[in-house]
Amino acid sequence: MESKLNKLKLEILKGLENVKSADALRALEIKYLGRKGELTKILRAVADLSVAEKKTAGKLANDIKKEIQEKFELVKAELEKEKKEIFIDATLPGEKIEPGHLHPITILQNEIEDLFAAMGFMVLEGPELESDFYNFTALNIPPYHPARDMQDTFYIETPLNPPLSGGSLLMRTQTSPMQIRAMKKYGAPLRVVVPGRCFRSEATDVRHEHTFYQVEGLMIDKGVNFSHLKAVMEEFGKKLFGPETQLRMRPKYYPFVEPGANGEYSCFLCAGKGCRLCKGTGWLEIVGCGLVHPNVLSTGGIDPKIYQGFAFGYGLDRLAMLKYAINDIRLFHGGDLRFLKQF
Ligand code: DAH
Repeated sequence: MESKLNKLKLEILKGLENVKSADALRALEIKYLGRKGELTKILRAVADLSVAEKKTAGKLANDIKKEIQEKFELVKAELEKEKKEIFIDATLPGEKIEPGHLHPITILQNEIEDLFAAMGFMVLEGPELESDFYNFTALNIPPYHPARDMQDTFYIETPLNPPLSGGSLLMRTQTSPMQIRAMKKYGAPLRVVVPGRCFRSEATDVRHEHTFYQVEGLMIDKGVNFSHLKAVMEEFGKKLFGPETQLRMRPKYYPFVEPGANGEYSCFLCAGKGCRLCKGTGWLEIVGCGLVHPNVLSTGGIDPKIYQGFAFGYGLDRLAMLKYAINDIRLFHGGDLRFLKQF
């Protein structure tokens, strides 16, 4: 009898280990401890034993029953705890998900697009992976032109595109290649702005980043001249920095315009008196521009004897830095939420 009891005990304990639900536990309880249960039956049989046997086997049977009952209680308590843990209170308030918002560069880009759209310019985007031809050669910057030195970039070399073959691919250094693409696609007359991401192999510092944004502009029509360029630049400055903003233009060389100029706006922070933002000069240097070089028009398939044009290129990051008083260009792509949340 004793070996039978011990065997049964092991069997019950094993059964308890595998129990996963309250129902299974109840079934097990009935099977062994119920009125007709297997352990109950053995306990009853103890009554028929001799006095000597009752002493040992009876005691063992009772001990085992007690132990088994305690184990049942333990498993029951555990199952109940688990049940509580998966209870979901659907009436609790939900977790708040913070809405995202536009990046400061995007906010300004949208504003600038609206501004030029109101002046009749269409908005285009162009490829960031550009051909050497569109990025340089077509813009009057042939291979070995020294102007290439200032715009070193990331070249993508393939066996089909050896470097400097004129067909190689590169990450565009400026949005200006879209001038040619737009001329080829839409012809003249043309009014277009092209915001977009550009790349240069730069040693980064507070004013230089390997990835940055520009906004290109191009207007082509019969009789377009420098005063048209100046009028559009002026309008842009007043809309973006306030109605008092002044424009001054100084000659500057860019291979794809002739004449070329640097556009500077009177500092909106000190109204031209000179401050930290404008480095004491009263002027903010913001835009490269000029009248489109006849070679560039020809490459774009437009006859320079019939049509003339002006072009300009703003550094979007620089504009954003000035407008929002940001002192490090690297903050734009740093992903620091403390910075981004301020916009
Ligand atoms: N693409 C020039 C740069 O990255 C900026 C520029 C200058 C664009 C003159 C123009 C322009 O369209 O006419 O430095």
